[in-house]
Amino acid sequence: MSSRRIFRPLLAPLMALALLGSALGGASTAGAAEAQAAQPVAPDTMAARVQGCTACHGVHGEGTDNDYFPRLAGKPADYLYNQLQNFREGRRKYPPMNYLVTYLSDDYLHQIATYFSQQRPPYPQPAKPTVSASTVTKGQQIVLNGDPSRNIPACAACHGASLTGMEPAIPGLVGLHSDYISAQLGAWRAGSRHAKAPDCMQQIASRLTDDDVTAVAAWLSTQTAPANPVPAPAGSRKMPLVCGSEPQ
Ligand code: HEC
Ligand code: HEC
Repeated sequence: MSSRRIFRPLLAPLMALALLGSALGGASTAGAAEAQAAQPVAPDTMAARVQGCTACHGVHGEGTDNDYFPRLAGKPADYLYNQLQNFREGRRKYPPMNYLVTYLSDDYLHQIATYFSQQRPPYPQPAKPTVSASTVTKGQQIVLNGDPSRNIPACAACHGASLTGMEPAIPGLVGLHSDYISAQLGAWRAGSRHAKAPDCMQQIASRLTDDDVTAVAAWLSTQTAPANPVPAPAGSRKMPLVCGSEPQ
């Protein structure tokens, strides 16, 4: 994916970032305080506080049509919380996200995570496949059945039969763009994204080839979310690997 595609739409979000510093109660220089005093005080609700997030993640965390900005809505709260901590502590790297959460407390991150986990905006239209039909079929095969000959477990074994995730901390994989999915699997393979040890996704991603990644990302992005897109209950699926972020 070209960096132009990632960074071109950043101008509006960056302006939002400047506003967000004060909305989140972070940076407070004298100038910012004066500017704030001159403006009508916004109601102090979570919806108001997370306004700076919505430029990139959508008003209700539904995502935007930018290929790289993920949906947050409806993902389990502890998953979102773990990610906010990962950005704060450098286990995931994306400078605007790292910057935004640097000074936020665990308690505040947990409130933000809970807020987005409870949002239920509609899902985007599924993508039209841009790869061959055989690639899409291969992706479906890996997601639903894995590839035992290469020790690759079915993604659905942990991410849920309808791919809406599992409480408390496994995210849904529906409603994400294929470029975002590929980038995350790539980040695990490259060692720039980490989860709590044992990092099962690092083990799984490193068993996938480039072609596998393209295939699973393509198939996942063409799926329609189920009518009731809630994560599966905690412990409802027997996980094929141990994951530090999803205690069993
Ligand atoms: C400048 C755009 C931008 C802004 C503003 C922004 N984000 Fe993000 N966010 C991203 C991108 C891009 C990613 C994916 C980064 C990566 O590759 O890991 C991300 C990832 C995340 C994730 C992990 C999602 C997942 O499924 O793993 C969470 C949670 C999140 N952001 C929450 C927030 C919150 C809360 C705010 C406001 C305080 C915010 N973001 C503001 C662009 C942004
Ligand atoms: C053993 C359980 C397990 C299996 C099997 C599994 N995953 Fe995961 N997956 C997880 C956990 C746990 C996380 C959350 C990791 C974290 O906290 O960052 C995750 C996160 C992800 C994410 C990040 C989503 C986001 O919003 O950023 C992607 C993408 C992903 N998995 C894809 C896959 C694919 C593709 C497969 C199949 C090839 C797969 N997973 C199989 C447990 C699993």
